[in-house]
Amino acid sequence: MGLDYFRINGGNRLRGRIRVGGAKNAALPIMAASILCEGEVILHDIPRVADVRSLCELLGKLGVESDWRSDGALRLVVRDEMNCKAEYDMVRKMRASICVLGPLLAKRHAAQISMPGGCAIGDRPIDLHLRAVQKLGAEVDLVSGDIMVKARRLRGGEMFLGGPFGSTVLGTGTAMMAACLADGLTVIEMAACEPEVVDLANFLNACGASISGQGTPRIVIEGVRRLGGCEYRIIPDRIEAGTYMVAAAITNGELLIENCRVDHLLAFIDRLSAIGVQVQKTGEGAEVTSARRLEPVDVTTQPFPGFATDLQAQLMSLLCLADGNSVITEKIFPDRFLHVAELSRMGARIRKEGPTCIVSGVKRLVGAPVMASDLRASAALVLAGLAARGTTVVNRIYHLDRGYVSMEEKLRAVGADIERRSDGDV
Ligand code: EPU
Repeated sequence: MGLDYFRINGGNRLRGRIRVGGAKNAALPIMAASILCEGEVILHDIPRVADVRSLCELLGKLGVESDWRSDGALRLVVRDEMNCKAEYDMVRKMRASICVLGPLLAKRHAAQISMPGGCAIGDRPIDLHLRAVQKLGAEVDLVSGDIMVKARRLRGGEMFLGGPFGSTVLGTGTAMMAACLADGLTVIEMAACEPEVVDLANFLNACGASISGQGTPRIVIEGVRRLGGCEYRIIPDRIEAGTYMVAAAITNGELLIENCRVDHLLAFIDRLSAIGVQVQKTGEGAEVTSARRLEPVDVTTQPFPGFATDLQAQLMSLLCLADGNSVITEKIFPDRFLHVAELSRMGARIRKEGPTCIVSGVKRLVGAPVMASDLRASAALVLAGLAARGTTVVNRIYHLDRGYVSMEEKLRAVGADIERRSDGDV
């Protein structure tokens, strides 16, 4: 079987409606949290992306049965609690496998997880996850590339979860999931405030946990004896929404983004309006209207509510066409710039200086064969291809499929000339 790629003929203005699905980065930790639950968990709006399928596979190995109901909901039920080990094969494929650490430790008193190692966007250490479980009384060992954590009983504790790049999203999740079955009170200082963290806390509370302060840097968790199941709807994917907002802007088009939480995208929308792109909140979501002339802007990625690192690459594609110099600084993953070299192949003028890129706007981008390197970088290349003159081929879109549901179909429905092909095709 060949690798899929996208073939895009650029230049079409996009018009119409695009519906955003549930958030991948809320879905993954919430699915992992089902390990903690003694009842059935029914999750609505789980996006059917490759990462979700990978996590279902890992959960299956950990004794959690998953099936898709006819109404599209995902049902998760714990059948067997014997296995506590996430193998290297799974963790290598998807770093979010680390989400099972907290739940396994809390519910099964031990977890063995292959050390994730680096990935395309940087080093991605897990020291803060480990600090969290140690503060709850777990023992941590590293044995031939595996992290082993164990504790007969977790005790609530106070922890500071800030690192050199600020708070940690999944690390805050690990702490919350481990602490909700611990004895007594846990306080997480410098907790991540991302909407996906809030969604996880709300899910855990719906199962019987007692968590407060989610959405602020101080989360307080009162341990409970057990968690039941629940039926829960995942929040809309703010990164998918932001990606399609750029699709409207970069093609000088007009899109109504449905199922979009504008309050989760304030920093991003602020930058879009500085560029001259209008975003109007409507009853159904947000209406995006592009400007003929794009103003250059400065952008710095930050933890929520700052500008999301997961939208940095996409905004860079747009700024490649702005009328002047923009400065993009990456404060979360300083090496997350693999898209720069590929955008340059399309005629972009970008100079990288450490964690900063100076993007000098050009009149037009030109189609070229380019290579996707990670999920959001792939999205940026597709966006550039939509605007470029001529044909762009984005190779290795398996990266894109990890986090976007049928991107090419959604874009085609609003007027893009884009198709998925496979290396094996003639
Ligand atoms: N960090 C540490 N130590 C840790 C954990 C993180 O130093 O133990 C550092 C990281 O290296 C980084 C910063 O802290 O510099 C923030 O990383 P964070 O832990 O918040 O990232 P994450 O939780 O592993 C999630 C998303 C990423 C998103 C980041 C930042 C999921 C599954 N992943 O990762 O999403 O970029 O938060 O918002 O939720 C994506 O969807 O494409 C993606 C990469």
